[in-house]
Amino acid sequence: MKNFFIVLFIFSTTAFSQKEKLNFLVKPYVQNTSATSITILWETNPASKGEVQFGKAELDKNSPTLDQKIIQDSFSTMHVIELKNLEPGKQYFYKALSCTENGDTLIYNILPIATFPYVEQPFTFAVFSDSQQQEDTLAWNKISNMALMERPNFGLIVGDLVERGEDINMWRNQFLSKAHEFMKSIPLFPVMGNHDNNDPNYFKYMKSRSEKSYYTFTYCNAQFFIIDSNLELEPGSEQYNWLEEELAKSKTDWKIAAHHHPAYSSDYDDYGNSETSLRLKGDPVILPLIPLYEKYNVDVVFSGHIHSYERTWQIANDKVDDDGVVYIQTGGAGGNLEKSAVMRSWFTAKVKSAHNFCLVSVNGNQLYFCAIDYSGNLFDQIKLKKEADKLLTLSTPVIRAHNNKFIDEINVTIEDYNKNAEARFTFDGGEPSINSQLYKGQIRINESCILKVSSFVGNLKSKTSKMFFEKIEGQNGYAVNPTNNGLNYKYYEGTNWLNLPDFEKTKEIKSGAVGNISITEIKEREDQFAITYGGFIRVDDNDVYTFYVRSDDGTKLYIDDQLVVDNNGSHSARTKYGSIALLAGYHKFYLEYFDNVEGEELKVMFKSSKYERREIKNNELFR
Ligand SMILES: [Fe+2]
Ligand SMILES: [Fe+2]
Repeated sequence: MKNFFIVLFIFSTTAFSQKEKLNFLVKPYVQNTSATSITILWETNPASKGEVQFGKAELDKNSPTLDQKIIQDSFSTMHVIELKNLEPGKQYFYKALSCTENGDTLIYNILPIATFPYVEQPFTFAVFSDSQQQEDTLAWNKISNMALMERPNFGLIVGDLVERGEDINMWRNQFLSKAHEFMKSIPLFPVMGNHDNNDPNYFKYMKSRSEKSYYTFTYCNAQFFIIDSNLELEPGSEQYNWLEEELAKSKTDWKIAAHHHPAYSSDYDDYGNSETSLRLKGDPVILPLIPLYEKYNVDVVFSGHIHSYERTWQIANDKVDDDGVVYIQTGGAGGNLEKSAVMRSWFTAKVKSAHNFCLVSVNGNQLYFCAIDYSGNLFDQIKLKKEADKLLTLSTPVIRAHNNKFIDEINVTIEDYNKNAEARFTFDGGEPSINSQLYKGQIRINESCILKVSSFVGNLKSKTSKMFFEKIEGQNGYAVNPTNNGLNYKYYEGTNWLNLPDFEKTKEIKSGAVGNISITEIKEREDQFAITYGGFIRVDDNDVYTFYVRSDDGTKLYIDDQLVVDNNGSHSARTKYGSIALLAGYHKFYLEYFDNVEGEELKVMFKSSKYERREIKNNELFR
């Protein structure tokens, strides 16, 4: 009897592996729709050859016409098929099917899809964030289905799509499967959250306009700027330069930005414990973007990360202002809810701790916004209207300079994205007019001044860009002649450090020398340690130098005893920067670093008018 069972078991497993039933790991869904293309994706097991049949919707048909098809060349488990050369603003139907080498076939229902229109017309989009599945396993399914009831043209999801980006089952069985009703016909434009963790799974399942995690797309008269707030956002960083250029070039009536971390938030304890202390206004990583939003007339900024809802008043220059930007935190599509600070913030127009999604309708110069909670209640709404004089027709010129401070002189360039335009500028703070000096190429500035630039095309004038340039004294070098490269270090250990310790009162464990700034060769434990690095840095030119310190956790950088970069506190890897004017020679270099818990990172970079941002070389450091 025993032997019979063993034989039967071997036979049945062999038979099963030979003929694995073809099934969907992820059912067909839509991404990255444009005016002329739509991408269809699905995933099967085992590998199969994918095919999409599709055709334009027609009047009076009993069944959709699927008169075109695309068949993949090879067998794979993930299927990504882009339908190209479609007509703008048209509805289509598609059917996705898969076929294995054995001839097994899997067919999904015929589904409707639509391209984006070229011509201006009213439209509606849904905004979600933080669909990551935690205790409420039904939240994302319910929220996405409620949004679908509104039949939006597309959706925007502002990060933390899943709880752990590296867990493929969370993508398949939680994020994609629970929103399948929405995603099978409506494209969802993604934003990278910290939980998505820049994982290949994010890029595998979420297609957008770019291979990068930041990109832009336009729907009728609205342009969307999708930013990855997990990457650097400091002025001069790749993403900051990209965003400024895209904002400057943008000519749409409405400009909408989205990034995961909130610029303004009244969270209970994420940006300072509201029970015991004053709080920050929002996430410090976003601070560099706020002036860009104000300068280039961004209307609404969406974020998530905090699992609750908050809408600000219109804000400019850190005050409520009718011409300002509205910031909306909508982190309520799935994750465990967070509560609000104990007292109302000055910027808060509406705050609510609830699962929610937002719906935005744009009709010409009017934008209607509403927020809907888990029970289907509309709990917040606003209407923004642009008067004719606020509708931009020209791009704003961009002033580019390596710094706004200089010792002797500085070269400044202007980028004007308008065609057949003249950029005209003033140095005296006056508003540029058609009679002001014409920009013909690099401007050399050798006195403190306010540079103002506008672009002119016929009778039209753009918004004015301005930058204050300040002539400053350079710091003298030290009369030393050190011969050893590298830095001296001192090493310390502590308990419960949330900030840099007072090094004068902390016992030094050991000291020595290192070739360059490094943690691994010094630290003797994983957490709760601190290091100071001291010596000289040699610079070859009289120039204004910008130092960037990226650290996890806190740091302070002093040059010639002046605090140049303050990146103190317990935080994940983030960059802060500061500038100092130095005359050629040796300057005191002193860096303090501490690690609280978990990850650790430390990197110091700098730039001058002669070179782009780079790491400090070993032969520039002395002790
Ligand atoms: Fe989240
Ligand atoms: Fe987050």
